[in-house]
Amino acid sequence: MSEKDKDEVSEAQIAVHWQEENYYHPSPQFSAQANMTDPSIFERFSLENFPECFKEYADLLTWDQYWHTTLDTSDAPCWKWFVGGKINASYNCVDRHLKQHKNKAAIIYVPEPMDEPHVTLTYQALYVRVNEMAALLRDFAGLKAGDRVTLHLPMTPDLPVTMLACARLGVIHSEVFAGFSGKACGERAADSGSNILITIDSYYRGGHLLDHQEKLADSIKASEANGQKIDKVLVFRRYPGKHSSKIPMLEGRDYFIDELLKDYQGKRVDPVSLPAEAPLFMMYTSGTTGKPKGCLHGIGGYLSYATATSKYVQDIHPEDVYWCMADIGWITGHSYIVYGPLALAASSVMYEGVPNYPDAGRPWKIAEELDVNIFHTAPTTVRMLRKAGPDEPKKYNYHFKHMTTVGEPIEPQVWKWYHEVVGKGEAVIVDTYWQTETGGFLCSTLPGFQAMKPGSAGPGMPGIHPVIFDENGNEVEQGSGIAGNLCIKNPWPGVFQTIWGDRDRYVENYFGKYCKNRDSKDWRDWPYFTGDAGMQAEDGYYRVLGRVDDVINVAGHRLGTKELESACMVVDAVAEASVVPISDELKGTVPVIYISLKPNFQASTEIEQAIIRAIESEIGKIARPRHVYIVPDMPKTRSGKIMRRVLGSISNRADVGDITTLANPEVVEEIRKMVQED
Ligand code: WTA
Repeated sequence: MSEKDKDEVSEAQIAVHWQEENYYHPSPQFSAQANMTDPSIFERFSLENFPECFKEYADLLTWDQYWHTTLDTSDAPCWKWFVGGKINASYNCVDRHLKQHKNKAAIIYVPEPMDEPHVTLTYQALYVRVNEMAALLRDFAGLKAGDRVTLHLPMTPDLPVTMLACARLGVIHSEVFAGFSGKACGERAADSGSNILITIDSYYRGGHLLDHQEKLADSIKASEANGQKIDKVLVFRRYPGKHSSKIPMLEGRDYFIDELLKDYQGKRVDPVSLPAEAPLFMMYTSGTTGKPKGCLHGIGGYLSYATATSKYVQDIHPEDVYWCMADIGWITGHSYIVYGPLALAASSVMYEGVPNYPDAGRPWKIAEELDVNIFHTAPTTVRMLRKAGPDEPKKYNYHFKHMTTVGEPIEPQVWKWYHEVVGKGEAVIVDTYWQTETGGFLCSTLPGFQAMKPGSAGPGMPGIHPVIFDENGNEVEQGSGIAGNLCIKNPWPGVFQTIWGDRDRYVENYFGKYCKNRDSKDWRDWPYFTGDAGMQAEDGYYRVLGRVDDVINVAGHRLGTKELESACMVVDAVAEASVVPISDELKGTVPVIYISLKPNFQASTEIEQAIIRAIESEIGKIARPRHVYIVPDMPKTRSGKIMRRVLGSISNRADVGDITTLANPEVVEEIRKMVQED
């Protein structure tokens, strides 16, 4: 390893290597009812049959006008799928089900307070709400196809209703996770060019009615500071008719949606027939450097991919009760609470609050009451529930046929608890590996006929052809178990179209490393780089080792270290900040912050607190660091680069390795004492 490479050693490369695990097979009962049990699907979706194979996915949708070109590569690597087609996502998720499923539950909403009843929106009720909201967005907010609108909404049915209302008009929604700060929301609103912001007064979390409108002033401020005026703020009320926030409404700017809707009662809005490649939504995700990236997803490609994977991997049938306990503020909720399941006419459960309120039995109680049989969550939640109530699932009478894990690698021992205790040994598990950018699953087993292996996501999905490259662009031998950079050889319908407003960054970030000819219009020249390190075992299963770049995955959510570091810089006393992930039993990894101060400042708890506050207001509580250490100096290379690797090893109590090349090796021992004897 060269000197340079040593400095670059990433989290992924120092990741612990798990032992190979044994297989678990789906039960005959599961396979007998599964939507996909035909191994020849991999033949049909081989590279020889690419891209035409994806017609099978497109045909799960209802097209206003059928498409003529499966994949248009003329603007490589901005792929266009199903060109020539006209379609509407709202029609596909709502209207087309009315004939057969009008009275069926589309969304079953479980409020967090135990004394509030579940709310069921049938497909007919959803249709009515989506239409009225679409009329309001069009006629009151003045929104039309191609406009962007920012949503800062938590888990109430208002969120999917608003998304589908946007989709009906072709308005591009950009939902910002409600847990993010007002500032983070405002910056994203400005980046997307939204002049309308949709929020809510309050919502429940952990037993408290949080005042969400409190964040609004910061959103407006940040948006305006970044050059975007917000003309109208539309405010849902958690209890229509009753304002549950101490923040007054600003006349002429802020409007209660429940009041406005009175004018739109009974209104119907024809779904706008849009080109297949028109954008459906954008979702911001953290990158290594700079500001978050607005990932743009197109209607036809995204929806067909989310629908097909919901059908074949989530194994959703119309009669199932499906619960994905994610937040719709993340991509998982977009694809696997809203768009995929609703396109299949499923009953999709959504839960407002935290899984351990009032205790760690809540999810199992909900499952028992609603007879949920498909359950979907993240390893961080599994770890939390396992710690808080390892025996809780036994107390409830529910039966899952299928469970999902998503968002980060799951440790085999956690997987086994999920399987034996939560799944009562009966459920299949899919470990689904994917990203905001990819729209849907990249790697997973097909649960009807492929065995599970704890800790491994599984092979590439049908039509997804992964490849592992080394740093020099050489293909790592398939099945060799050697780690490298995980890439996908080919485009697929779910992949995002570009980064909003920054095509160069899109090309550079995802294709720059392994594209040999940037003028090429041939997709074969444009492998997609996931940014993850991975390895493929002999059996073809992929194990994802984590990000190769500087992104920290906290509780399944990606946070850019650069973003965190720049948030620290807001505090006047801070000279340098360096953020490293440390492993956390519940959240996977959490940030630890190292700070060096400007001259003439003394370390103090006030400064530490100011840094924590800065992180919370710039990014959100989710990014709250485990520790802030104020150190005399950062360990640095001679070229002045901060050695995150060393800080990471100290934080995780691992061997710091060779530090003789450092400009200031003596500081390492000082920091070690400070941290480890803390
Ligand atoms: C990680 C979430 C291991 C990975 C859907 C990826 C995973 C990032 C898995 C994307 C998994 C996601 N096993 N790692 N099953 N799923 N990841 O954009 O590092 O929030 O690049 O999308 O999470 O996170 P994002």
